[in-house]
Amino acid sequence: MASVEKLTAVSKFIFLVAVVLLQWGASHAQQPYVNNKQLACDDQSNNNITKGFYCNGPKSCASYITFRSDPTYNTAVNIGFLLGADATQIVSLNNFSSDLATIPSDTLVLVPVNCSCSGNYYQHNASHIIRYDNETYFIISNNTYQGLTTCQAMMAQNSYNFRKLQVNNTLLVPLRCACPTSRQSADGFKYLISYMVTWGDSISAIAAKFGADEKSVLDANELSASDIIFPFTPILVPLTAEPKIIESQHTSPPPAPPPPPQTPTGVGESKSSKKWVIVGVAAAASSVLLLSLFGFLFCFNRRRSRKPKPLLEPGPPQPPLPKFSDSSDYPLSISSQGIRHEIESLTLYKFEDIQAATGNFYESNRIKGSVYRASFKDDDAAVKVMKGDVSTEINLLKRINHTNIIRLSGFCLHEGSSYLVYQYAENGSVSDWLQSNKNQASNTLSWQQRVRIAYDISDALNYLHNYTSPPYIHKNLKTSNILLDGNFRAKIANFGLARTLENANDGGLQLTRHVVGTQGYLAPEYIENGVITPKLDVFAFGVVMLELLSGREAAGAERNREGEVLSASIKRVLEGDNVRGKLEGFMDPALQHEYPLELAFSMAQLAKNCVDHDLNARPSTADVSNTLSKILSSSLDWDPSDELDSSTSMSSTR
Ligand SMILES: *[C@@H]1O[C@H](CO)[C@@H](O)[C@H](O)[C@H]1NC(C)=O
Ligand SMILES: *[C@@H]1O[C@H](CO)[C@@H](O)[C@H](O)[C@H]1NC(C)=O
Ligand SMILES: *[C@@H]1O[C@H](CO)[C@@H](O)[C@H](O)[C@H]1NC(C)=O
Ligand SMILES: *[C@@H]1O[C@H](CO)[C@@H](O)[C@H](O)[C@H]1NC(C)=O
Ligand SMILES: *[C@@H]1O[C@H](CO)[C@@H](O)[C@H](O)[C@H]1NC(C)=O
Ligand SMILES: *[C@@H]1O[C@H](CO)[C@@H](O)[C@H](O)[C@H]1NC(C)=O
Ligand SMILES: *[C@@H]1O[C@H](CO)[C@@H](O)[C@H](O)[C@H]1NC(C)=O
Repeated sequence: MASVEKLTAVSKFIFLVAVVLLQWGASHAQQPYVNNKQLACDDQSNNNITKGFYCNGPKSCASYITFRSDPTYNTAVNIGFLLGADATQIVSLNNFSSDLATIPSDTLVLVPVNCSCSGNYYQHNASHIIRYDNETYFIISNNTYQGLTTCQAMMAQNSYNFRKLQVNNTLLVPLRCACPTSRQSADGFKYLISYMVTWGDSISAIAAKFGADEKSVLDANELSASDIIFPFTPILVPLTAEPKIIESQHTSPPPAPPPPPQTPTGVGESKSSKKWVIVGVAAAASSVLLLSLFGFLFCFNRRRSRKPKPLLEPGPPQPPLPKFSDSSDYPLSISSQGIRHEIESLTLYKFEDIQAATGNFYESNRIKGSVYRASFKDDDAAVKVMKGDVSTEINLLKRINHTNIIRLSGFCLHEGSSYLVYQYAENGSVSDWLQSNKNQASNTLSWQQRVRIAYDISDALNYLHNYTSPPYIHKNLKTSNILLDGNFRAKIANFGLARTLENANDGGLQLTRHVVGTQGYLAPEYIENGVITPKLDVFAFGVVMLELLSGREAAGAERNREGEVLSASIKRVLEGDNVRGKLEGFMDPALQHEYPLELAFSMAQLAKNCVDHDLNARPSTADVSNTLSKILSSSLDWDPSDELDSSTSMSSTR
């Protein structure tokens, strides 16, 4: 009890410090930086930062925004039209020769706008008419308006549902701008520029561009010198006089963007869309720190007030799948997992209870191998009988709580055997569905179910690799270890070979002499050198995706003519001529062509990257999960009766 008191005091102290810091920040600085939160379009938490800059100064003022000319918007007239600004003022401020003169692509253009309070936020209203059916709130705010607004702000101020945007809809586009606070005015600042960050920018480079003081820029955005800034987000630059761009724009090319990571590429993804993945990852990583602080407070409070749980209570209701939008959604799914980080205490069963629940291990209760169906009171469970040391699995599962990881509810030790009691998965394993119901369209997993299974598993792997402490590697991922509940939501099972990643600091590299696992799923570096990294699971997951696509076994009797295992055959399918035809031939005949080929291609491409021979070329589970969330969101939109739509739904995943 005494330690509980102490902890309460500690958590109160941390909370106080956080409150004090926040209040200090609010009075000291101008506006919090958006920190890439604009990517999470489906963030329902009403994150104020994404809605605009707070109205914390005069009701209105003259201000400036920046825009980089592109092939569509390349004259003062059409930039002014896009941004609701005056072309003549743009011409004179930027010393263009005329309002119709072509501005070379990627020129930084300063645009004067009137900024005013609307509700709690400063904004400059522009309006946009939808021209193409691939436009979404995210694409309009990020790609067309280059991040000058956010999807969240647009959704808040337009009545159109994000799934129902149509050509010819007129949208209000609230552009982010701000007026100096009284404190800034007292320091002599007259204007604020909303400068859009681009690849390779830094605060010092931005300050230099406008002859501003670096410290005043950091203060204006509540940033410190070591903080990371992200492309397509606005940075406020306070100025004492009308702005001029000081840096000559064409003599020094912008520094090269960081090398793109090896990320899965979808059909429609351009080179630049690869890069933002790094940004997304960085954003996720930075939110982990925050989450762990909140997670700590949350778990702590929960723990104190928890009542003991009844035995084997049914699993928590499946949360509805978030509505996916076009941005990176995985930071969201992580935050919800973080909150659900409850530690289940395990029940120690008596052997008699296990015997009774399984009908004394009656043969017709046998699910498979040494796994039996059991019935405790009214709850179904699965009991696995194991010999030898099961501490790995118990220790791991008792600490983990993720919807897509099978839940261990208790265990029993009896005469040298262990009996592990798991949550029951009504629909058996994915391999059963793919193998025993071969070629029966009536009894197969649909395209949407397959994509959702892949997404569920990637989310669970991402959790194991990046959000548990210590991180875990499953090491034995395969379709027979992926179970399906009554709603066909996937759960990873069988953690007997899992291990922790102890030396996560050394890049997570470990070596082993004992190569164990399942043929067809083992990564080459593991077979050859016993190297253990999270990329081992990525490889196996790539094979799982290939099975979901093709319905073939990882290394079964069905090896193809060349005697290749599944992971080797995908290369041949996706390389060379007639990729479309070869992919159609590769796909599971049981699907009977009821799938969008473009999305199948994206998933095949992702799987191919996952089974790359070079482990460094494989994407991280975070990247995989992110890509799959987009494929899933497009798949849910896909209407089998309307195959023509598949190409547009593909391009709208961006
Ligand atoms: C966020 O916005 C809500 C309403 O829009 C407001 O009540 C709240 O005070 C805002 N939070 C901050 C920190 O300004
Ligand atoms: C901003 O407001 C001033 C005065 O209210 C006006 O003269 C000017 O034209 C406005 N600028 C724009 C771009 O609307
Ligand atoms: C504006 O452009 C003209 C030529 O187009 C040039 O002579 C002049 O120096 C420029 N002024 C500034 C301030 O850059
Ligand atoms: C901008 O649009 C909002 C929402 O329609 C409106 O309330 C506000 O008055 C507009 N601001 C200006 C300056 O027109
Ligand atoms: C949307 O479609 C139009 C016309 O089909 C095309 O020019 C444009 O590049 C597409 N935009 C995106 C972001 O895919
Ligand atoms: C935002 O738009 C830019 C410019 O068009 C593009 O390069 C970038 O990939 C987009 N970001 C995302 C997350 O799609
Ligand atoms: C959009 O408006 C234009 C011009 O008014 C019209 O020609 C076109 O048919 C409209 N498109 C749709 C899809 O309503």
